[in-house]
Amino acid sequence: MSVMLSASGLSRRFGGIQAVSNMGLEVATGSITGLIGPNGAGKSTLFNLLSGVIRPQAGKVLYKGQDVTRLAPYKRARLGMIRTFQLSREFGRLTVLENLMLSPQQQLGEQLFPLFSKSRAVAQADDVVYERALEVMEIAALTDLRDKYAADLSGGQKKLLELARTLMIDCDLILLDEPGAGVNPALMGTLMDMIRRLNTDYGKTFLIVEHDMDLIGKLCDPVVVMTEGSFLSAGPFDDIREDPRVIEAYLGGVLLD
Ligand SMILES: Nc1ncnc2c1ncn2[C@@H]1O[C@H](COP(=O)(O)OP(=O)(O)O)[C@@H](O)[C@H]1O
Ligand SMILES: [Mg+2]
Repeated sequence: MSVMLSASGLSRRFGGIQAVSNMGLEVATGSITGLIGPNGAGKSTLFNLLSGVIRPQAGKVLYKGQDVTRLAPYKRARLGMIRTFQLSREFGRLTVLENLMLSPQQQLGEQLFPLFSKSRAVAQADDVVYERALEVMEIAALTDLRDKYAADLSGGQKKLLELARTLMIDCDLILLDEPGAGVNPALMGTLMDMIRRLNTDYGKTFLIVEHDMDLIGKLCDPVVVMTEGSFLSAGPFDDIREDPRVIEAYLGGVLLD
């Protein structure tokens, strides 16, 4: 088994709150690894440490064996490790196709210059980018929505577009923070199919932080559980859900049914 991402000894405090404490985890190449834990367990903080949005006070993050602990998110993205970013208001004024055809820098949320007009997006585009956008829209089931403004998409369609944007950049590891949040049940299947297909047909490795146990159970293996900022357990979902320590950690929170 080869390891694509590994973190060890990660710690991050906010004032008096130890959000993440000596946390470690491994994401195997080719896996869809899930990360769960009760509210306040430190999942989002860990996610931000792994993607580079915030820095740890201690610990290390290795991507394909390279120390990326202090690298900015866009630099990690250039190495092939990418996280989704929420569509900002400016992106809402562009169509689905235009969103995909923007430069990688803008897709990474690294806006060096204000996005003042659509023609900017189009001017930057060449045939290769256009062809790729068509292919990506097909994968993401967005082809029929290509001329729709991103702002007018449903919550689930926006998630598909956010995920689709990552595919415009060459990447091997995709980090998703709650991809299922705000997605209606009808689109949930489409979203899960897309993730599965990107994994099996396109070889993408995933780390997914998610509340929705249905998504976790159907897509993720292994599932890593954290509680109170630290590693609790990891394994197949069916084992995890029966682990007494996991059940105890969730008591008073969302129970695994
Ligand atoms: N920027 C921040 N400032 C202060 N406290 C924070 C900040 N981010 C997270 N926390 C705290 O750290 C703990 C872990 O939060 P978080 O990582 O969001 O957990 P989860 O995503 O598992 O619900 C919580 O107690 C939360 O209130
Ligand atoms: Mg969170």
